[in-house]
Amino acid sequence: MTAHAPSRGDVAVLVPAAGLGTRLGPGAPKALRTLAGTPLLVHAARRLAAARSVGCLVVAAPPTDVTAVRDMLAEVATDLIVVAGGDTRQDSVARALAAVPAHFPIVLVHDAARALVPPALVERVAAAVRDGHDAVVPVLPVVDTIRTVDASEVALGTVDRSTLRAVQTPQGFRREVLAAAHEAAGEALTDDAGLAEALGVRVQCVPGDEAALKITRPFDLAIAELLLRP
Ligand code: C5P
Repeated sequence: MTAHAPSRGDVAVLVPAAGLGTRLGPGAPKALRTLAGTPLLVHAARRLAAARSVGCLVVAAPPTDVTAVRDMLAEVATDLIVVAGGDTRQDSVARALAAVPAHFPIVLVHDAARALVPPALVERVAAAVRDGHDAVVPVLPVVDTIRTVDASEVALGTVDRSTLRAVQTPQGFRREVLAAAHEAAGEALTDDAGLAEALGVRVQCVPGDEAALKITRPFDLAIAELLLRP
């Protein structure tokens, strides 16, 4: 628990939503695929905007869909900026970050593919940044046994899973920390906390939430449909 009450509006959330998501099969860009009749991006944006701390969403849309995405998100009850995404997730995040209005001290990065993110998780990450952590990631324990393998798929050994965590989004940052991490970014990484860590920033873990699952494969979409059933 944080000592501070969540204050409305000190958090901007970047939403990289420009990926094609081919693992979900052919069709529209992943963020625009529908879940229970509504695009994943709209589900995600509604939940992000429902967190009281969030004062602005900056969405990186597929470059050909910027106007459609702006129209699609008109119903979302917070300030909205839509930019064209880039060739990689990292590039899309950097473009969204460049568009954040100057007065937001806290920036979260949330994948549109985690469409069912609970607003309470958004608040938990934001509160940890507000409480003084430079970089914050929500994590879950790893339940499977994890083995390393060689190039021929021969098992080499078992990793001690008690020290492993699966990392979710939203990931939270002091704005200057995220900006410095992206400025210094070399090789592309799959998450933003990894970029901050490469700069020597300490990354704090907070409990994640299973409902924030990443909808990557058709199986995940089926789970998400089930979660939405009344
Ligand atoms: O491909 P992956 O599932 O890792 O993508 C994670 C998130 O990054 C997705 O929400 C996707 O839309 C976004 N992305 C992006 N720009 C890209 C590639 C991915 O905004 N060029």
